[in-house]
Amino acid sequence: MKSNKKLLEEIISIGNQLTQIKNTDSLMESILSEARGLVNAEAGSFYICDKNILHFMIAQNDYLQSNKRKLHFERFSIPMKKTSLSGYVALSGEVLNIADVYHIAEGSEYVFYPEIDKKTGYTTKSMLTIPLNTPNKKTIGVLQLINAKDKRKNTVEFKEEDVHYLVHFANIAAVALERAEMTRSLIMRMIKMAEMRDPMETGAHVNRVGAYSAELYEAWAKKNKINSKEAKVTKDLLRIAAMLHDVGKVGISDTILKKNGKLSDEEFAEMKRHPLIGSELFTDEQSDLDRMAGEIALFHHKRWDGGGYPPGEKKQDEIPLLARIVSLTDVYDALSSKRCYKEAWDMERVWDELSLSAGSQFDPELVALFLGMKEEILSIKKKYPDRTE
Ligand code: C2E
Ligand code: SIN
Ligand code: SIN
Ligand code: FE
Ligand code: FE
Repeated sequence: MKSNKKLLEEIISIGNQLTQIKNTDSLMESILSEARGLVNAEAGSFYICDKNILHFMIAQNDYLQSNKRKLHFERFSIPMKKTSLSGYVALSGEVLNIADVYHIAEGSEYVFYPEIDKKTGYTTKSMLTIPLNTPNKKTIGVLQLINAKDKRKNTVEFKEEDVHYLVHFANIAAVALERAEMTRSLIMRMIKMAEMRDPMETGAHVNRVGAYSAELYEAWAKKNKINSKEAKVTKDLLRIAAMLHDVGKVGISDTILKKNGKLSDEEFAEMKRHPLIGSELFTDEQSDLDRMAGEIALFHHKRWDGGGYPPGEKKQDEIPLLARIVSLTDVYDALSSKRCYKEAWDMERVWDELSLSAGSQFDPELVALFLGMKEEILSIKKKYPDRTE
């Protein structure tokens, strides 16, 4: 008998893990750099508001970055209080335009905390702090723009007329960010739904496939010299999107899904609908995560040689890379684990099977990379063990 308490614990832990994956990172990066570009700010940071907490999410600093100095950037969280500049803006929903943070007018409610300056050796002077307000007047984030530069690169104040444009921009950004957050929470609910459908198998399986896929992508990106920032964003998204590869199994009947023995041809034909069912759940073309999850769901049973399902002409490089990755990690996980229809294979046999299938079922470049990361693979397997009761 499965215990509900344990299931609940697992679901909570997936939730926690997902909140740590900031799949809105690239969105926040571009909001911040666009805003800085609009007012020629040398540096800036991005905070997210979460109840009474401010999360410091993103930092950009052209001076430090171009001088190859370390940005000293770590995420941190602070209580939202009116005594800090960002807290003041988050709570009041108002803009603060300060000419020199080291000379803030006496009697102001807020003070500047120079800790980051001390760590980086950078000197903050002018600072424009703007709330990201949604149409229903909720402040969901704070943009902090630092050191406006004039044509001769002198630090100047932020001009009042620029503030007007930025507030408009911030309103648009707030809508985009809220949308991205909604997608993320929808995806979290989908994973929970798949888990509840098949709690004995799915929880640990999806976590392992997500983790193996992210690691394998990282190795591939390194080998193929993908820009490291871009690779990091893709890796984080893939961690989630890969977890959803089998979400279409929610559309397959229990008698087939939980059958103890081999499937009949008819049952297997029914089972083969799960990629299409899954892909149809991801319809938001605007969201990178949706696009990625849809592609993976649709093509994770497509073979390198063009076989597999769904039927179609795609083969080799025409099959999306991330689907090729998941097709390998999914089979690795199926072979190395016990299923309702099979026993777990021992490791040697699994490695042999994968090597033999390089170039036919799987992308040979990916198989070679995967076989080179046995240690990481085994530690992931240990981290997400199957449930036994
Ligand atoms: P799954 O359990 O996640 O398995 C994913 C894939 O791992 C399979 O895709 C297959 O490519 C590979 N795989 C699993 N077991 C073996 C094996 O013993 N030998 C080899 N060479 N490959 C293996 P496939 O075959 O398209 O199956 C898709 C899904 O259909 C499976 O997902 C599973 O949910 C279900 N399924 C497949 N065969 C059976 C079966 O005989 N009985 C039951 N009850 N379900 C089955
Ligand atoms: C603040 O928002 O109060 C200051 C942030 C910083 O120290 O850079
Ligand atoms: C298939 O994908 O199942 C058949 C091969 C093809 O048409 O690409
Ligand atoms: Fe599948
Ligand atoms: Fe699977």
